[in-house]
Amino acid sequence: MTRFETIIRGGTVVTASDTFKADVGISEGKIQAIGRNLPDGEQVIDAKGRLVLPGGVDGHCHLDQPTGDGSQCADDFYTGTVAAAFGGTTTVIPFACQFRGMPMQAAVDDYHRRAQGKAVIDYAFHLIVSDPTEALLKVDLPRLIGEGYTSFKIYMTYDDMKLNDKQVVQLLSVARQHGAMAMIHAENSDLIAWLTDTLLEQGKTEPRYHAAARPMLVEREATHRAITFAELADVPILIVHVSGREAVEQIHWAQGRGMRIYAETCPQYITLTEEDLAKPGFEGAKCICSPPPRNKANQSVIWDGLDSGLFHIFSSDHAPFRYQSETGKMLKGESTPFNWIPNGVPGIETRLPILFSEGVKKGRISLNKFVELVSTNPAKMYGLHPRKGAIAVGSDADVVVFDPDLRRVIRSDKLHHNVDYTPYEGMVVDGWPVTVLSRGQVVIGDGKLMAAAGQGQFLPCGRPEMARPKVA
Ligand code: URP
Ligand code: ZN
Ligand code: ZN
Repeated sequence: MTRFETIIRGGTVVTASDTFKADVGISEGKIQAIGRNLPDGEQVIDAKGRLVLPGGVDGHCHLDQPTGDGSQCADDFYTGTVAAAFGGTTTVIPFACQFRGMPMQAAVDDYHRRAQGKAVIDYAFHLIVSDPTEALLKVDLPRLIGEGYTSFKIYMTYDDMKLNDKQVVQLLSVARQHGAMAMIHAENSDLIAWLTDTLLEQGKTEPRYHAAARPMLVEREATHRAITFAELADVPILIVHVSGREAVEQIHWAQGRGMRIYAETCPQYITLTEEDLAKPGFEGAKCICSPPPRNKANQSVIWDGLDSGLFHIFSSDHAPFRYQSETGKMLKGESTPFNWIPNGVPGIETRLPILFSEGVKKGRISLNKFVELVSTNPAKMYGLHPRKGAIAVGSDADVVVFDPDLRRVIRSDKLHHNVDYTPYEGMVVDGWPVTVLSRGQVVIGDGKLMAAAGQGQFLPCGRPEMARPKVA
């Protein structure tokens, strides 16, 4: 047998279905062999006492995404992918965002330019459709799906992005015809507008009123409406960033009727609560995202759904806006009203450690479920499996050697994003990646970045390949 370029020796391999002790032999960017006592490689990575996982696939993050309100996405494809890699993620899927009046192809071309020469790990693109013209529905979108952009996000809220009910169904019908996955941001826009006006009229402008303007019922209603659209169009959909019980109940109801309704949740919904939005001064702005974090009882519902299989993917929804910045959370100064504070929290580097520490270490989910949620299922959802999301012969050697006992205190200044805060400041986590490989190359080793900008490649996506949801 020829010598492997790299061997990962003596670790515990964990996949979405199995846990076993084995060496992993790597050459030419691919996993070549998995077994006990494999011959040595030119490079040997000692994984004794460590877990050997498929690299994380972050199926929802925002990098260098243009905005329309003067805010600035703080991470580009370099800082965002470096941070992702330090946290054990080897594939990211951010969004090529169409603004109204713009051809979708122009948004895709612009986004390729933004990524060019910067990424240190592989990346694919989702699309965001905000202007579903006839040309887009009939020509551009079907062509782009065929070219490897097989998922697109639909917003039911945000004035500059939201689509009306007819437009949503039109898009779902394209998804059905051409085999794409629609990702739905489910919040009722008009109800949010009315609640926002009412709060502002009462002088309630502080960050904590963001939660009051977007209560659970606006998410519940829109989730149910999205499910109805999916039933009408007869197509699977993914409800993204689900925050708590009432949306979960709608998804459970739909899955129980045999519908292929998939669900995503994110670290903020298992760690933060609306009390974080009420921190003194303007601090609460750091935790503003939509839907907003709820409360402890809702966190338990999310945990139950992660364990039971109601949720299929766990993404960061990394939406990086700096805190002390007039292109960030302080868009209109230190008392920016809540409805002007850019939505989103950073979390691309902390996604795996938080779910591992809070989930696996605390006995809430199994190790295999962890791998399924952070890697295997997002790869399947977006047509990248088994190239990504697997430890299997022939798969890309995107591998994370993870120390399950490495204790870290999360500090923003130790993270690698270009954001001046983390909502998880001071949180203690047990478990952190120590070595990260992308297509066989060590990207992170000995706590250092070993990869060059531009090493990451664009991945055209295939058809989504998700099994029918299991009803819990
Ligand atoms: O608040 C959030 N989630 N911001 C990011 C954009 C989005 O809707 O996912
Ligand atoms: Zn969203
Ligand atoms: Zn998002």
